[in-house]
Amino acid sequence: MVKRQLDPARAAWQKPDRVVEALGLRRGQVVAEIGSGPGYFTLRLARAVGPSGRVYAVDPEPAMLDALRARLRRDGVRNVTPILGLPDDPLLPSGACRLALIVNAYHHFADGPALLRRLARSLHPRGRVVNIDWDARETPVGPPLERRVAPETFLRAARSAGLTLLGARDLLPHQYFLVLRRVRDARAT
Ligand SMILES: C[S@@+](CC[C@H](N)C(=O)[O-])C[C@H]1O[C@@H](n2cnc3c(N)ncnc32)[C@H](O)[C@@H]1O
Repeated sequence: MVKRQLDPARAAWQKPDRVVEALGLRRGQVVAEIGSGPGYFTLRLARAVGPSGRVYAVDPEPAMLDALRARLRRDGVRNVTPILGLPDDPLLPSGACRLALIVNAYHHFADGPALLRRLARSLHPRGRVVNIDWDARETPVGPPLERRVAPETFLRAARSAGLTLLGARDLLPHQYFLVLRRVRDARAT
């Protein structure tokens, strides 16, 4: 799994630089990746927010965080904090993160709606969630159709978690890209 996620050929359809550009991050921001795996996007987020910023990289799989830590050491990256999350709670510091990026991971979550509820409450009041996941149709790469989560299903869970859709980016050939923000009354707990 680690090898597949870090495969350089992935860039052709994942377009990581365009994705990170579309996130509009600023230096010094605090952001998170939920389901970071070994850090394909985490390291790019770390570059985008710079040494004065911070990236919380959340994953419940210790082996994934070990692989991430090895890459952080190898590249001398110091602004990433790995977090061993719970299946239904990313355990982020309250009110800190301006963005939570989720890529190809929501369909892995054991209880996505519960995780989204906790994630939404823990975000900065003006925080956003970006969810990128596989289109619910046959694509040349990606998991079997029955394991995918259609955007409508994700959006239903997001709305009941206190998130509202800001927009979608038509950037990726095989995946949807949804941008959400907290609704005003979803308070940090
Ligand atoms: C296919 S990988 C994607 C990794 C990375 N986002 C990327 O794009 O390369 C999915 C990741 O989600 C993680 N995951 C599964 N359940 C999770 C949960 N409840 N909370 C956070 N991450 C989870 C898995 O351990 C795995 O590392």
